[in-house]
Amino acid sequence: MLRLTNVSAGYGQIQVVRDVSLDVGEQEIVCLIGSNGAGKTTLLRAISGIAPFCVGTIEFNGEDLSDLPGHEIVTRGIAHVPEGRRLFRTMSIRDNLLMGAFRRRSASEIKHNLDRVYHLFPRLAERRDQAAGTLSGGEQQMCAIGRGLMSEPKLILIDELSLGLAPQVVDNLAKTLLHIRDLGISILLVEQDVEIAFELASRGFLLDSGQITVVGTTAELAENPQIKLAYIGA
Ligand SMILES: Nc1ncnc2c1ncn2[C@@H]1O[C@H](COP(=O)(O)OP(=O)(O)OP(=O)(O)O)[C@@H](O)[C@H]1O
Ligand SMILES: [Mg+2]
Repeated sequence: MLRLTNVSAGYGQIQVVRDVSLDVGEQEIVCLIGSNGAGKTTLLRAISGIAPFCVGTIEFNGEDLSDLPGHEIVTRGIAHVPEGRRLFRTMSIRDNLLMGAFRRRSASEIKHNLDRVYHLFPRLAERRDQAAGTLSGGEQQMCAIGRGLMSEPKLILIDELSLGLAPQVVDNLAKTLLHIRDLGISILLVEQDVEIAFELASRGFLLDSGQITVVGTTAELAENPQIKLAYIGA
Protein backbone atom coordinates (compact mmCIF):
# COMPACT_ATOMS: atom_id res chain seq x y z
CA MET A 1 0.00 0.00 0.00
CA LEU A 2 2.94 2.30 0.72
CA ARG A 3 5.88 2.21 -1.66
CA LEU A 4 8.96 4.41 -1.56
CA THR A 5 11.29 4.33 -4.54
CA ASN A 6 14.69 6.02 -4.39
CA VAL A 7 13.63 8.55 -1.82
CA SER A 8 16.19 11.05 -0.62
CA ALA A 9 15.31 13.59 2.04
CA GLY A 10 16.86 16.10 4.39
CA TYR A 11 17.05 19.66 5.54
CA GLY A 12 18.09 22.42 3.16
CA GLN A 13 21.41 21.42 1.67
CA ILE A 14 21.85 18.50 4.04
CA GLN A 15 20.79 15.18 2.62
CA VAL A 16 20.08 12.83 5.52
CA VAL A 17 18.32 9.95 3.79
CA ARG A 18 19.62 8.64 0.47
CA ASP A 19 17.96 6.48 -2.18
CA VAL A 20 15.63 4.65 0.15
CA SER A 21 13.25 2.08 -1.29
CA LEU A 22 10.81 0.51 1.09
CA ASP A 23 7.27 -0.86 1.12
CA VAL A 24 4.52 -1.65 3.58
CA GLY A 25 1.69 -4.04 2.70
CA GLU A 26 -1.98 -4.13 3.66
CA GLN A 27 -2.53 -4.92 7.33
CA GLU A 28 1.17 -5.36 7.85
CA ILE A 29 3.53 -4.17 10.56
CA VAL A 30 6.94 -3.26 9.18
CA CYS A 31 9.81 -2.00 11.32
CA LEU A 32 12.52 0.49 10.54
CA ILE A 33 15.56 0.14 12.75
CA GLY A 34 18.88 1.93 12.86
CA SER A 35 21.17 3.75 15.24
CA ASN A 36 20.77 7.31 16.52
CA GLY A 37 21.02 9.82 13.72
CA ALA A 38 20.54 7.22 10.97
CA GLY A 39 17.65 9.23 9.54
CA LYS A 40 14.63 7.26 10.73
CA THR A 41 12.68 10.31 11.89
CA THR A 42 13.60 12.19 8.74
CA LEU A 43 12.28 9.33 6.60
CA LEU A 44 8.96 9.27 8.45
CA ARG A 45 8.74 13.04 8.00
CA ALA A 46 9.36 12.61 4.28
CA ILE A 47 6.46 10.14 4.06
CA SER A 48 4.22 12.56 5.95
CA GLY A 49 5.15 15.42 3.65
CA ILE A 50 6.81 17.45 6.40
CA ALA A 51 10.48 16.99 5.53
CA PRO A 52 11.86 20.28 4.18
CA PHE A 53 13.44 18.48 1.26
CA CYS A 54 12.38 15.23 -0.41
CA VAL A 55 12.90 13.69 -3.84
CA GLY A 56 12.00 10.29 -5.24
CA THR A 57 8.63 8.58 -5.42
CA ILE A 58 6.27 7.96 -2.54
CA GLU A 59 3.15 6.07 -3.57
CA PHE A 60 0.21 5.23 -1.39
CA ASN A 61 -2.49 2.94 -2.74
CA GLY A 62 -1.26 3.73 -6.22
CA GLU A 63 -1.34 7.50 -5.77
CA ASP A 64 1.82 9.60 -5.92
CA LEU A 65 2.11 11.62 -2.72
CA SER A 66 5.23 13.52 -3.73
CA ASP A 67 3.69 16.94 -4.23
CA LEU A 68 1.01 16.82 -1.57
CA PRO A 69 1.23 18.94 1.59
CA GLY A 70 1.14 17.23 4.98
CA HIS A 71 -2.56 17.73 5.68
CA GLU A 72 -3.50 16.16 2.34
CA ILE A 73 -1.40 13.14 3.23
CA VAL A 74 -3.35 12.78 6.49
CA THR A 75 -6.55 12.91 4.44
CA ARG A 76 -5.22 10.14 2.17
CA GLY A 77 -4.96 7.90 5.24
CA ILE A 78 -1.49 8.25 6.75
CA ALA A 79 -1.19 9.27 10.41
CA HIS A 80 2.08 10.15 12.13
CA VAL A 81 2.81 9.53 15.81
CA PRO A 82 5.87 11.73 16.29
CA GLU A 83 8.98 11.03 18.29
CA GLY A 84 8.50 12.48 21.78
CA ARG A 85 4.68 12.26 21.40
CA ARG A 86 4.19 16.04 21.16
CA LEU A 87 0.91 16.34 23.02
CA PHE A 88 -0.63 19.64 24.03
CA ARG A 89 0.27 19.39 27.68
CA THR A 90 -2.32 21.73 29.15
CA MET A 91 -5.15 20.27 27.10
CA SER A 92 -7.19 17.26 28.18
CA ILE A 93 -6.79 13.80 26.67
CA ARG A 94 -10.10 14.27 24.90
CA ASP A 95 -9.07 17.58 23.36
CA ASN A 96 -5.72 16.15 22.29
CA LEU A 97 -7.55 13.28 20.61
CA LEU A 98 -9.89 15.71 18.87
CA MET A 99 -6.87 17.53 17.42
CA GLY A 100 -6.26 14.38 15.40
CA ALA A 101 -9.75 14.59 13.91
CA PHE A 102 -9.22 17.87 12.10
CA ARG A 103 -9.82 16.27 8.70
CA ARG A 104 -13.07 14.57 9.78
CA ARG A 105 -16.11 16.77 9.55
CA SER A 106 -19.18 14.92 10.71
CA ALA A 107 -19.83 14.75 14.44
CA SER A 108 -20.93 11.12 14.20
CA GLU A 109 -17.70 10.16 12.47
CA ILE A 110 -15.67 11.90 15.15
CA LYS A 111 -17.69 10.25 17.91
CA HIS A 112 -17.22 6.85 16.29
CA ASN A 113 -13.45 7.34 16.12
CA LEU A 114 -13.27 8.64 19.67
CA ASP A 115 -15.18 5.58 20.92
CA ARG A 116 -12.82 3.35 18.98
CA VAL A 117 -9.80 4.96 20.66
CA TYR A 118 -11.38 4.65 24.11
CA HIS A 119 -12.16 1.02 23.40
CA LEU A 120 -8.55 0.31 22.40
CA PHE A 121 -7.18 2.32 25.34
CA PRO A 122 -9.64 2.12 28.26
CA ARG A 123 -7.10 4.04 30.32
CA LEU A 124 -7.65 7.09 28.14
CA ALA A 125 -11.41 6.78 28.57
CA GLU A 126 -11.06 6.77 32.36
CA ARG A 127 -8.87 9.85 32.29
CA ARG A 128 -10.38 11.72 29.37
CA ASP A 129 -10.57 15.06 31.20
CA GLN A 130 -7.05 14.90 32.63
CA ALA A 131 -4.42 17.27 31.25
CA ALA A 132 -2.08 15.40 28.91
CA GLY A 133 0.99 16.89 30.63
CA THR A 134 0.11 15.05 33.84
CA LEU A 135 -0.08 11.61 32.23
CA SER A 136 2.53 8.89 32.67
CA GLY A 137 4.84 8.25 29.73
CA GLY A 138 2.84 5.19 28.70
CA GLU A 139 -0.45 7.05 28.86
CA GLN A 140 1.05 9.85 26.78
CA GLN A 141 2.08 7.35 24.15
CA MET A 142 -1.46 5.90 24.17
CA CYS A 143 -2.80 9.41 23.70
CA ALA A 144 -0.40 10.12 20.83
CA ILE A 145 -1.36 6.87 19.08
CA GLY A 146 -5.03 7.57 19.78
CA ARG A 147 -4.71 11.02 18.26
CA GLY A 148 -3.25 9.41 15.14
CA LEU A 149 -6.18 7.01 14.93
CA MET A 150 -8.67 9.87 15.04
CA SER A 151 -7.95 10.67 11.40
CA GLU A 152 -9.09 7.14 10.49
CA PRO A 153 -5.78 6.18 8.90
CA LYS A 154 -5.03 3.13 6.80
CA LEU A 155 -1.37 3.42 7.78
CA ILE A 156 0.14 4.76 10.95
CA LEU A 157 3.77 5.82 11.29
CA ILE A 158 5.04 5.41 14.85
CA ASP A 159 8.35 7.01 15.77
CA GLU A 160 9.95 5.40 18.85
CA LEU A 161 7.20 3.41 20.49
CA SER A 162 9.10 2.32 23.58
CA LEU A 163 11.28 5.35 24.29
CA GLY A 164 11.52 5.93 28.04
CA LEU A 165 8.85 3.38 28.93
CA ALA A 166 8.96 0.41 31.30
CA PRO A 167 8.94 -3.06 29.67
CA GLN A 168 5.48 -3.93 30.92
CA VAL A 169 4.03 -0.72 29.54
CA VAL A 170 5.67 -1.44 26.20
CA ASP A 171 4.22 -4.96 26.20
CA ASN A 172 0.74 -3.55 26.66
CA LEU A 173 1.23 -1.01 23.90
CA ALA A 174 2.57 -3.77 21.65
CA LYS A 175 -0.57 -5.85 22.21
CA THR A 176 -2.72 -2.88 21.30
CA LEU A 177 -0.71 -2.35 18.10
CA LEU A 178 -1.58 -5.92 17.10
CA HIS A 179 -5.28 -5.11 17.66
CA ILE A 180 -4.87 -1.99 15.57
CA ARG A 181 -3.31 -4.04 12.78
CA ASP A 182 -6.20 -6.50 13.05
CA LEU A 183 -8.57 -3.59 12.43
CA GLY A 184 -6.95 -3.37 8.99
CA ILE A 185 -4.46 -0.59 9.73
CA SER A 186 -0.84 -1.04 8.63
CA ILE A 187 1.98 0.19 10.82
CA LEU A 188 5.45 1.46 9.98
CA LEU A 189 7.26 1.27 13.29
CA VAL A 190 10.52 3.01 14.12
CA GLU A 191 11.90 1.32 17.18
CA GLN A 192 15.29 1.32 18.92
CA ASP A 193 14.54 -1.87 20.77
CA VAL A 194 14.92 -4.48 18.04
CA GLU A 195 13.49 -7.26 20.18
CA ILE A 196 10.18 -5.42 20.38
CA ALA A 197 10.38 -4.40 16.75
CA PHE A 198 11.00 -7.97 15.60
CA GLU A 199 8.26 -9.35 17.80
CA LEU A 200 5.69 -7.04 16.28
CA ALA A 201 6.74 -6.71 12.67
CA SER A 202 6.67 -9.26 9.88
CA ARG A 203 9.41 -7.51 7.90
CA GLY A 204 12.04 -4.93 8.60
CA PHE A 205 14.52 -2.49 7.11
CA LEU A 206 17.83 -1.40 8.58
CA LEU A 207 18.73 2.22 7.95
CA ASP A 208 22.43 2.87 8.27
CA SER A 209 23.71 6.44 7.81
CA GLY A 210 20.71 7.31 5.69
CA GLN A 211 20.70 4.23 3.49
CA ILE A 212 18.87 0.93 3.68
CA THR A 213 21.51 -1.77 4.06
CA VAL A 214 19.52 -4.80 5.20
CA VAL A 215 15.99 -5.88 4.25
CA GLY A 216 14.15 -9.04 5.19
CA THR A 217 11.60 -10.81 7.29
CA THR A 218 12.14 -10.14 10.96
CA ALA A 219 13.13 -13.80 11.38
CA GLU A 220 15.89 -13.23 8.81
CA LEU A 221 16.95 -9.95 10.39
CA ALA A 222 17.21 -11.57 13.81
CA GLU A 223 19.80 -13.96 12.34
CA ASN A 224 21.70 -11.32 10.38
CA PRO A 225 25.29 -11.06 11.69
CA GLN A 226 25.48 -7.27 11.23
CA ILE A 227 22.25 -6.73 13.14
CA LYS A 228 23.15 -9.26 15.82
CA LEU A 229 26.45 -7.54 16.42
CA ALA A 230 25.18 -3.98 16.49
CA TYR A 231 21.69 -4.29 17.95
CA ILE A 232 21.21 -7.56 19.76
CA GLY A 233 24.54 -7.74 21.50
CA ALA A 234 25.27 -11.31 20.45
N1 LIG B 1 15.79 20.08 11.63
C1 LIG B 1 16.98 19.61 11.26
N2 LIG B 1 17.87 20.36 10.60
C2 LIG B 1 19.06 19.89 10.21
N3 LIG B 1 19.47 18.63 10.42
C3 LIG B 1 18.65 17.82 11.07
C4 LIG B 1 17.36 18.25 11.53
N4 LIG B 1 16.77 17.21 12.15
C5 LIG B 1 17.63 16.18 12.10
N5 LIG B 1 18.75 16.54 11.45
C6 LIG B 1 19.92 15.67 11.19
O1 LIG B 1 19.52 14.56 10.44
C7 LIG B 1 20.22 13.39 10.85
C8 LIG B 1 19.24 12.28 11.10
O2 LIG B 1 18.34 12.65 12.13
P1 LIG B 1 17.04 11.83 12.44
O3 LIG B 1 16.36 12.54 13.56
O4 LIG B 1 16.28 11.57 11.21
O5 LIG B 1 17.67 10.45 12.96
P2 LIG B 1 17.01 9.26 13.75
O6 LIG B 1 17.43 8.02 13.06
O7 LIG B 1 15.57 9.49 13.91
O8 LIG B 1 17.77 9.35 15.15
P3 LIG B 1 17.25 9.00 16.63
O9 LIG B 1 17.38 7.53 16.77
O10 LIG B 1 18.21 9.72 17.51
O11 LIG B 1 15.85 9.50 16.76
C9 LIG B 1 21.03 13.79 12.06
O12 LIG B 1 22.35 13.94 11.66
C10 LIG B 1 20.44 15.10 12.49
O13 LIG B 1 21.39 15.94 13.05
MG1 LIG C 1 14.38 9.74 15.50
